[in-house]
Formats: sequence, C-alpha cells, structure tokens
Amino acid sequence: SLLYYNHAWCAASLSQTINQVAASRQKHTLPDLPYDYGALEPHINAEIMQLHHSKHHATYVNNLNVTEEKYKEALAKGDVSAQVALQPALKFNGGGHINHSIFWTNLSPNGGGEPQGELMEAIKRDFGSFQKMQEKMSATAVAVQGSGWGWLGYEKESGRLRIVACANQDPLQGTTGLIPLLGIDVWEHAYYLQYKNVRPDYIKAIWNIINWENVSERLQTAKK
Ligand SMILES: [Fe+2]
Repeated sequence: SLLYYNHAWCAASLSQTINQVAASRQKHTLPDLPYDYGALEPHINAEIMQLHHSKHHATYVNNLNVTEEKYKEALAKGDVSAQVALQPALKFNGGGHINHSIFWTNLSPNGGGEPQGELMEAIKRDFGSFQKMQEKMSATAVAVQGSGWGWLGYEKESGRLRIVACANQDPLQGTTGLIPLLGIDVWEHAYYLQYKNVRPDYIKAIWNIINWENVSERLQTAKK
C-alpha cells in the first residue's frame, strides 16, 4: 500500500541520515594550511612543509579515523581489553592530529618579532623577559631526546604560562592538563631535509615565523 511504501521510505531515509551523521561525526579531516607550502621560506622550505602536511599529518588523520572505528566496535562489543589495547594508537594518532593542527596556525609568513599586550605581559611576569622565555623554550625543545615537542602552555589553576617538553605525539592538554598556546615540532621530519641534524638552527629560525596573534588568541580562549 501507499502507507507501507511511505513508512519504508521514511525508515530508509532516516537510517541513511543517521549513518551520515555518525560518519560525519567520526571522520577527522586534514585541515588546509593557511598559507602556501613555500610561504615560510627561507626558514622552513617548501619540500618539508609539503611532506610534513600532506604525508605526515595526513597519516595521523587516517590512522586516527581507523583507530576510532576499531574503538567504536570494541565499545559496541563491550570488549574492554580491545579498548585498552587501542589506547596507544589513539594517543599517538590523536595527538599527532591535535599537535599539527595547532602547529600550522602557530606559524605565519608574516610572523616573528615579539607578542603584544596581555601575552607579552604574562611572558614578562612568568619568565622575566621575552628573551628569557625564548631561551628557555629553545633549550627545552633542543633537549627533547628523540622525537617530541616543546610547548608554551597555560596552566588554568595558577593562571601562569609554563614551558614543557612532550615525548612523541603526546598531546599537551591530554597528558599534562596545560592548554597549548605555542608548539615547536622537533621531530626530524620537521627539519631534517633542510637543517640535517642541527636542530638548534631550525629552532633559531622558527622564531622568525611565529604567529604571535594566533598565540595571543589561544591565550584569550584558554582564560575563558
Ligand atoms: Fe610533525
């Protein structure tokens, strides 16, 4: 009957909509860079940027989606062992996606110089001067053993800025509670093609392309 036909059509349509909503909620996507691959030259060359974004970051996104799919299945089965076993992959790929999404916006071809306003005041209060903060963050990033990140983060409880290192792709907020403001990727994939093994030169150069407006916006959001 027509009534039956309409019901069947509605059910099919509803189930399709639910699947689309579920799929769109789960799939993470690679964000576009807010500038061209060559825009950060001479500080970071186009080849590094292209590989870093379109290969490395893209792989974290793909593997995060795969891991979440497996996690969803484990949850549906009530399989706690499988859920626990997936956590390292979730931390690594989820962290990789979070970290790089912040990193791209922390950089700008029009960056460098010094921050203004509230961020600058907080840096002076917590580190003594902009130069001292820069030295501390550079030293922290240089000293990361193997792969990891140097971070400037906001500690909500004290209202202060902190500089810390994270290993691998450990995401700052998920592993320390600090809210990320500025991250320096010190994985070799971030600099080796241009700087070879000389990580300090890469870190020295990156200060020329820091987007302090983005870092300031992140501080404003963190304080809310
Ligand atoms: Fe990276």
